[in-house]
Amino acid sequence: MFDMIELIAPCHFGLEAVLKKEVTDLGYEITQVEDGRVTFRCPVSGVARANVFLRTAERVLWKVGSFAADTFDMLFECTKALPWEDYIPADGRFWVTKASSVKSKLTATVTIQSVMKKAMVERLREKLQVSELPETGVEYPVRVFLMKDVVTVALDTSGEPLHKRGYRQLTARAPISETLAAALLMLTPWTPGRILMDPFCGSGTFLIEAAMMAADMAPGMNREFTAEQWKNIVTRRAWYDAGNEASDRVKENVPEGLLIGSDIDRDVLKLALSNARAAGVEKQIKLIRRDVADMKHPASYGFVVTNPPYGVRLEEQAALPALYKSFADAFKRLDCWSAYVITPFEGVEEAFGRPAAKKRKIYNGMLRTDFYSFPGPRPVVRKEFA
Ligand SMILES: C[S@@+](CC[C@H](N)C(=O)[O-])C[C@H]1O[C@@H](n2cnc3c(N)ncnc32)[C@H](O)[C@@H]1O
Repeated sequence: MFDMIELIAPCHFGLEAVLKKEVTDLGYEITQVEDGRVTFRCPVSGVARANVFLRTAERVLWKVGSFAADTFDMLFECTKALPWEDYIPADGRFWVTKASSVKSKLTATVTIQSVMKKAMVERLREKLQVSELPETGVEYPVRVFLMKDVVTVALDTSGEPLHKRGYRQLTARAPISETLAAALLMLTPWTPGRILMDPFCGSGTFLIEAAMMAADMAPGMNREFTAEQWKNIVTRRAWYDAGNEASDRVKENVPEGLLIGSDIDRDVLKLALSNARAAGVEKQIKLIRRDVADMKHPASYGFVVTNPPYGVRLEEQAALPALYKSFADAFKRLDCWSAYVITPFEGVEEAFGRPAAKKRKIYNGMLRTDFYSFPGPRPVVRKEFA
């Protein structure tokens, strides 16, 4: 029924270039890049492939349409004008699961949701020629965002957000999200086959994401997606093909011992091990209990990628300068290594005794952080979005 479609992939603010590259690598054409969102064209099979393969997208949304509306009447009429019967079957369950509004006249998100639901009901009743919609079947959740009075309407094909890979059953305090960890790794010159160390590894997210990249394990190969149920618009074949492609790509015999995590807390290391096992990458990862002050490695070259504590409570904040100083001092003993640090703590450059070669603003949810690059003395191959 559909030829080419448009998908919208939301991502962390500041990481659009990384997601854009991932989408291009999947072979799809980017149509728009906005703050926190990349839109692209693909065949319907792209719904399955994007969900299974994208490491840095938060979800995959299927764009149904967009229109200008600055009154609820316009919102109703334009929503009703969209071809909902092409997507939602007579028994489908549908509702506007999330609405967001930025710089727009319509701001009451609950009203936006209910007006749109009413418009969809009217459209479907008319087009399907039924008086009642039982809504007893498969779910078709709708997401809507308003930006400067332009309304974009999309179906959520993912369900659970894509950072839920399925491996992290247990989390330490302040874990970094899987999608953010993957994107930050992609921003560094680290590539599979090179040494990576996280001296504040917590539940092991950076290391597990790196191990999955090294083994070319698709992030979504062990989970389910809402659109798998949409047999009316996405064929079973599309999901089988994406699953087979993911299985074919997995590498056996990935080098061991290159990914090293350490943490001062014995209990979080247990979580890290259990998460690594759940992801099937525990052989690649070495975990050590140690204070960051004792960080060391015999190799001359390697990468530290980490998110140190940032001190939620006041008494923790007071300890941060000394903690970052002991991290920086230990790092200095690591010969020609490079360090990449994400944190909202502003004393990082002071601790390292030099300005970062690059400081990139990243939003970790609502938290403003910076990603500091301290490349080693040898020139490193830069990736195209660096
Ligand atoms: C923000 S968390 C890291 C979270 C991790 N990225 C994850 O995904 O779970 C910071 C970690 O630093 C550890 N830590 C605090 N002080 C430390 C020290 N002096 N040496 C080593 N680790 C320390 C904490 O136990 C905590 O697990």
